[in-house]
Amino acid sequence: MARWNYREIEYGAIDVAKIQDNDFLFKVVAIASFIEITSDLYEKNLAEFYAGDEPIVSWLESTWEPEEIQHGRALRKYVRTVWPDFDWDKAYEGFRREYGKLCTLDEFQPTRAREMLARMVVETGTSTLYRAMTDYAKSIDEPILAEIAHNIHKDEVYHYEEFDKGFEKYNEEEHLGRTEITKVIYARLKMASDEDIFIAHKYIAPGEDFESFKAQTKTFAKEFYPYKMAVKMLMHPLHLHRHVENATASTIQGTLRVLGI
Ligand SMILES: [Fe+2]
Ligand SMILES: [Fe+2]
Repeated sequence: MARWNYREIEYGAIDVAKIQDNDFLFKVVAIASFIEITSDLYEKNLAEFYAGDEPIVSWLESTWEPEEIQHGRALRKYVRTVWPDFDWDKAYEGFRREYGKLCTLDEFQPTRAREMLARMVVETGTSTLYRAMTDYAKSIDEPILAEIAHNIHKDEVYHYEEFDKGFEKYNEEEHLGRTEITKVIYARLKMASDEDIFIAHKYIAPGEDFESFKAQTKTFAKEFYPYKMAVKMLMHPLHLHRHVENATASTIQGTLRVLGI
């Protein structure tokens, strides 16, 4: 059972006039809605990758995918409520056609434990993004978006924890050491390129400059991105002693900023 239901959110209570001109918010929410609602494609790939591991495959199908899809629906409804002139379906059709071709098993890590680490990196990204979105929504006094973003944030942290369990399970066979774990995490961070965001932006804001949107996200991140939380989550699989963790944290924090995550 999902912990929340987007149908119970009071979209009618949104002060539309107050935020309708917020073009940055429109783009961020619309892009997130596109990527989330496309989770069915990832789910198929993940289920294929972990075929034979019944607990994981059934969790992916019965819990992970419906939750990710709900994130997409909740955000889509938000877009439709606040920016009714935007043709979500038409723009999404183009996104799905183009991005769907790139969602293949080629992007996966070579082993099951490594892919679990990669999923933890992805869920760290989403957990922290929705945490930032919650704080941003509060800062512009938009309680409905804050509620939605907070709900999604909690789901993403839960996904992270489940993939963490999966990593620990598979690493009992694969015995990845700290150096290898760090390499996988770092490689996945670097791979978390803007490909999906770039394609979504193209269909959401046709003809508009992607670089200027990226510059806006950097300004947003400086103020709202929870770097500390991201670093803690990324370093967790290393099981470092606290003093080592603290010493390493600032280095990783710097890396995150350089990567613009
Ligand atoms: Fe999600
Ligand atoms: Fe997730």
